[in-house]
Formats: sequence, C-alpha cells, structure tokens
Amino acid sequence: MVFIRIPKPWHLPENRITAESSYFNRRRFLKTLAGASIGLSATALTGCQTASGSDASPLIGLMDLAATVNPDFVEGDRPLTGRELASTYNNFYEFGGTKNIWRAAQALPTDPWTVEVSGLVQNPKTYDLDDLTQTFDLEERVYRFRCVEAWSMVVPWIGFPMRKILEAAEPTSEARFVRFTSYYNESVTPGPGGFGRSLPWPYTEGLRIEEMANDLAFFAVGLYGQTLPKQNGAPIRMVLPWKYGFKGAKSIVKIEFVAEQPATYWNTLYPQEYKFESNVEPDVPHPRWSQAQEKLIGPGPDFSVEIVPTLPYNGYGDYVAALYA
Ligand code: MTE
Repeated sequence: MVFIRIPKPWHLPENRITAESSYFNRRRFLKTLAGASIGLSATALTGCQTASGSDASPLIGLMDLAATVNPDFVEGDRPLTGRELASTYNNFYEFGGTKNIWRAAQALPTDPWTVEVSGLVQNPKTYDLDDLTQTFDLEERVYRFRCVEAWSMVVPWIGFPMRKILEAAEPTSEARFVRFTSYYNESVTPGPGGFGRSLPWPYTEGLRIEEMANDLAFFAVGLYGQTLPKQNGAPIRMVLPWKYGFKGAKSIVKIEFVAEQPATYWNTLYPQEYKFESNVEPDVPHPRWSQAQEKLIGPGPDFSVEIVPTLPYNGYGDYVAALYA
C-alpha cells in the first residue's frame, strides 16, 4: 500500500480561512492520483493532535484522518464553506439554543466512545470508535447541507455509508425503521437556558430502513480531513444530504432497529413544523417561512455570500426520488 501525505491547506491557523480555492486545488491533486491508480490509505486516525489547536480555537484537539476521495461526490456547483465557519455556526441544542455553542460543546466527553447496534437484528454489536473506523473503509464526500432554517453550506465529510452498519447488523424481517440516539447526560448537556430538562432528551432521529440503505446516507467521523469537532457532532454523526439538517443527529450512541416508526426529537416538540420524513422540499413552506430559497453561508460578516434557490431533495433527486415514488 502506498502512503501519501496529503497537504491540508485548512490546517492553517488563520481566522476565517478561505478554504475553497485551496480545497479544490487539493481535489485536483487527488484526482490526478486516482488517474494514476494510486490508492490512498483508508485507515483511520493517522495523525496526532494538531499543533494549531488552542483554547481559543474551535478546531482544538482534532486528529488527521486518511480517506479515499469518493469521485461521485467531489464536485459541488457551490463553493465550499469556510472551515472555521462550519465549526462556529452550529446547532447543538444539548449545549444551548444559539449558534454559538462551540465552546460549551468542548465539554462533550468523546473518549472512550461506544455505539450500540441493537434491536431487531441478527448481529447486535457494540462498536468502539476504533472498531468503526477500522472495520469500515473511510471515504471523503463533499455534500450540500440544507438546514430547515433556510441556510446551507457545502462541506467535505469523512465517514462511511450507513448501509455498512445495516449489512453488518442484518435486521430481521420485522425491522422496518431505525432509531438513532444522541449522547445525553444531564450534568454535561444542559440544553437551552430556561428549557433544559423539559425538552424530549435524548435527541433522537429515525429513518425507514430503505432510507438508511440509500447510497447517500452517511455516518461522518470527520470533516475537512480531520476528526469531527465536538460542536459538529463528534465522534460520529448522521449526514443525509437530501433531508433537512436536523435529521442528521450528532454524537450517536445507539442505533436500534425497530418495527414501528420511532418518535423523533423535533417531531415530538413541534409535529406541525417538523415531519418524520423531512426531505428538502422547496415548494412546501415551513409554517413560519418559505423554503424556496436558502442563504449559502460563507466567510462574510453576516455569514451570507449568496441567496440561491433550494432544489428538490437538495439536488439529490437522482439518488433518492425513487424512495418516495
Ligand atoms: N443533533 C443533536 N444531537 N442535537 C442537535 O441540536 N441539531 C440538528 C442537527 N443534529 C442537532 C443535531 C440541526 S437543527 C442541524 S441544522 C444540524 O445538526 C447542524 O449541524 P452543524 O452544526 O454541524 O452544521
């Protein structure tokens, strides 16, 4: 196996890194390698802590991850979101109700970490993080990400298709849905001030099994060439680019195969506003705002570079429309 050191332009410790041009230069470099049939190491956790991390950095304590670039998901028509912005403009209600939770999220204990796969399966198993990253080949995919709040970003995730867990678990014929549960510990995750304990913790999400089996459905363990920052859902989160961002539960501890459609966090809180399915549908407004357009967040002071039309299934209809025929 040939090991190649990949330049990581986004490691530069500048504020508001403009990662886009550097990132796409790197992508060209990787494509050239692919053309020359040189494989990249697919083993995980190759590096050590970044030297640039400090208490003042939202990118503290991350480790390099090696992954094979998936050529089907290298291109976006849209520019890549600045790395630091993607890790300082977050939703993670366990740590507060604003976008500015990255400091609070550093309290999340991610080592050791286990993910229990259980329920209606032939092969229940509890994975630790090394099991996950060594059992399943890691790949990098650039995906669009559309939040129900009508902002969006484009980022390079590292992880593996969710169907790998499905194949390993072998659900029984009664299993029709999957419930995903995020980390919750009252003393670590206080929730938004004033509401905290009254909310339906832990954060849970759900999919139909066929949705989990779709090629796009992804478990991310990394972002921008390194492990996930805590505020982005370390050490493992869901990414479903054709659905609104809240379907991508962070910091997953349990994956259960069940017979009935499971309750989910947002659908339990506001059933009129957040449906179980929650695919990106520009023609279906949220009760309080339009979903026809979105703010593509960028490095500017108002986080906005461009207002763009929202696409059905966030532009991924070729992959997923058949699921909803
Ligand atoms: N997962 C958990 N456990 N808790 C949350 O509050 N927020 C969701 C989703 N996953 C959330 C979560 C919402 S509303 C969005 S838009 C995305 O995470 C945001 O992901 P990001 O902060 O990495 O952009």
